[in-house]
Amino acid sequence: MSKNIDWSNLGFGYMETEKRFVSNFKNGAWDEGTLTGDSTVTISECAGVLQYAQTVFEGLKAYTTEDGKVVCFRPDLNASRLADSCRRLEMPVYPEDKFIEAVVKTVEANIDYVPPYGSGATLYIRPYMFGSNPVIGVKPADEYQFRVFVTPVGPYFKGGVKPITIRVCDFDRAAPHGTGHIKAGLNYAMSLHAIVDAHNQGYDENMYLDAATRTKVEETGGANFIFITKDGKLVTPKSDSILPSITRRSLMVVAEKYLGMEVEHREVYFDEVKDFAECGLCGTAAVISPVGKIVDHGKEICFPSGMEEMGPTIKKLRDTLTGIQMGHIEAPEGWIKVIRE
Ligand SMILES: Cc1ncc(COP(=O)(O)O)c(C=O)c1O
Repeated sequence: MSKNIDWSNLGFGYMETEKRFVSNFKNGAWDEGTLTGDSTVTISECAGVLQYAQTVFEGLKAYTTEDGKVVCFRPDLNASRLADSCRRLEMPVYPEDKFIEAVVKTVEANIDYVPPYGSGATLYIRPYMFGSNPVIGVKPADEYQFRVFVTPVGPYFKGGVKPITIRVCDFDRAAPHGTGHIKAGLNYAMSLHAIVDAHNQGYDENMYLDAATRTKVEETGGANFIFITKDGKLVTPKSDSILPSITRRSLMVVAEKYLGMEVEHREVYFDEVKDFAECGLCGTAAVISPVGKIVDHGKEICFPSGMEEMGPTIKKLRDTLTGIQMGHIEAPEGWIKVIRE
């Protein structure tokens, strides 16, 4: 029985559900892992995660398709991205097949929290790992905990999709050869001041530029950029210091294979941005959020798509990808993981 939740009025927040998955790494090996009803974590006051921020995470969604299946989207890519994040922070990799199993088990154990089809809400899935034993000298922990919890979240766009205004940010997000390409908590801690400041100045998001030259577009604090050229190509920034968004990688396939568009994955100079026809931010939460305006220290770039509606090409991309996710459009092999038939 679906929980009695007002799905369409949910925000993007945490709600405790019944079960979560927990596995511990000790003496060089992961245990079998188990589901637990305990939503709290008890660790040493000196745990590696608390002292030196040794923690990585993922984010994906489960949702109900039109024909009533519960599915999630490309969890294998979350598994491999978490493994990459772990390797960069000297953490043990959680086996990729076990990652998918843990996601499936956690969703199954909380199946009543999966929002119904058409509500716009989804079940957000948060796998994460942290160093759990005491570490006082700066070094990797020896013991780790991997957990997966889920929480129902509301429709990302309530009352229609409105283009947002972003600013070019004076803070840098990621150093060259740093950790910008992995999903580590530390990348988000350092973005908090920049986003609070952006909001205080009346902007919805920050556009980060490359830290070395400040001439190239990187990403925002939580999404990759896509641009549409006036002749209908998809252009998306390539950089070693941005997170390889699963949504962006999927949109590149959708653009090329489903919509017959040309796709360019390359360095994008900020100077080129004024010439694009459409701009969007892509990520698991919103699929694509349209950007209407970018402000660079008082200079405004206003996209021809305007501040009222999503541009036509970005809308087509978004409709096609959500159609694939919801089961109206046939998905490429392996993109949809069915959790409940
Ligand atoms: C920094 C950053 N970039 C991009 C993304 C979008 O990635 P994905 O499409 O895999 O959700 C996210 C969200 O996970 C993010 O945190």
